Amino acid sequence: MSLFAEHLHTVAERFDQALEDTGFESALIYSGQPRVAFLDDNPAPYKVNPLFKYWVPLLNSPKSAVFYRKGSGKPTVYLFQARDFWHSEAKIPEEDWQQQVELKIIENLSQLTDDLGDDLAATAFIGEDFAQPVADWNVKARNPQDLLDYLHFQRAIKTDWEVENLRQANRLAAKAHLAAKRAFFAGKSELAIHAEYLAAMNFRESEVPYNSIVAVNEHSAVLHYDVYDTEPPAEMRSFLIDAGAVYKGYCADITRSYAQEPGFYADLVEALDAAQQELLTEIKPGVNYYDLHVSMHLKIARILKQFGFISIDAESAYQKGITSAFMPHGLGHFIGLQVHDVGGFLKNAKGESYQRSERHPFLRLLREVEVGQVFTIEPGLYVIDQLLEKFAGSTDIHWDKVDQLRPYGGVRIEDSIVVGENGNNENLTRDAFAKLTES
Ligand code: GLY
Ligand code: MN
Ligand code: MN
Repeated sequence: MSLFAEHLHTVAERFDQALEDTGFESALIYSGQPRVAFLDDNPAPYKVNPLFKYWVPLLNSPKSAVFYRKGSGKPTVYLFQARDFWHSEAKIPEEDWQQQVELKIIENLSQLTDDLGDDLAATAFIGEDFAQPVADWNVKARNPQDLLDYLHFQRAIKTDWEVENLRQANRLAAKAHLAAKRAFFAGKSELAIHAEYLAAMNFRESEVPYNSIVAVNEHSAVLHYDVYDTEPPAEMRSFLIDAGAVYKGYCADITRSYAQEPGFYADLVEALDAAQQELLTEIKPGVNYYDLHVSMHLKIARILKQFGFISIDAESAYQKGITSAFMPHGLGHFIGLQVHDVGGFLKNAKGESYQRSERHPFLRLLREVEVGQVFTIEPGLYVIDQLLEKFAGSTDIHWDKVDQLRPYGGVRIEDSIVVGENGNNENLTRDAFAKLTES
């Protein structure tokens, strides 16, 4: 059986259980369609429904749908191909998936409803339905939460086909990261660096999985910096790039930080990189991701101490919330069909969820680590004055050190990890970079 056929089998089994438990005979997963800008006829870039691409790697087929009848093991794909002389259709390569599904080409959505007839009344619809005729379809329920929870909980465990796609996505992104690094050291502007990033993978901007963060100097302290200067600054000190790629619908999310020259900031990058790699050795089935997050905070506290940012000991800096001012975001998140993949708060398939942590409100993964999960590990350390204000005047912090780091912004290192047995994990990101430097 091909990897895709195995994947499809797993997806079908998951839907079988989910539909059985939530009282539906079938599911209709609509791919979606582009939204049009206000008072305009220009469509925004189309983004496919993630649960549609879970079934078939079709990223550019709006107005299509997958119909799955409980227990059938085989979906029907209604592939929309309009007779339309204004536009050309996305090319769909001949691939294994076409052999594994029942494929029906439609040029009108009424062909789908005619084909399904009364079955629709026992069907759960999954997708966006802001437009006609989809909004009027006579389905049993639209996006029922219990069904979604069931599917989202199970999506945390990736199939081998999904892991292979994530591997390829990391290879694409790593190649582009190296092009961006070269552009930074060549003194290019943030916008020009991003153009090199896209060109290295042959992507248009709407195809990247999230707005790339391409930040020179103090811009790297802005966690989601994406406004891009069009001219390089007079002095290039530091570079942080957080940028991804997509392969068959699966996302990469990689961050690297670079120093222009040896010295204080370069040492800080090296220290955070070493701490991140040490943390990777703590990832084992049964460990709670929250505990990994706390462990990372303590490592950051030790770096703060080692580099002279704090006068107190590392443990006290954590207890007093000082590490949260330097690293406000979560250690990471699930990744897969979505960059911030779903299910990080779910306790079980029944939809019970963990309470968000008050101590670490931006941590979006609270589950126990399990074999087959894929998540990011992305510690950072930044000068964010809005957060440091809370400690203004405190002698716990050596402010001259903060002033020294401010012109460099911050540091973040982000890899994606596949959890294996007994800590035998795969680092998709570092493996991808290693493969490139070998070749
Ligand atoms: N690039 C977004 C994130 O790292 O979560
Ligand atoms: Mn991330
Ligand atoms: Mn990222």
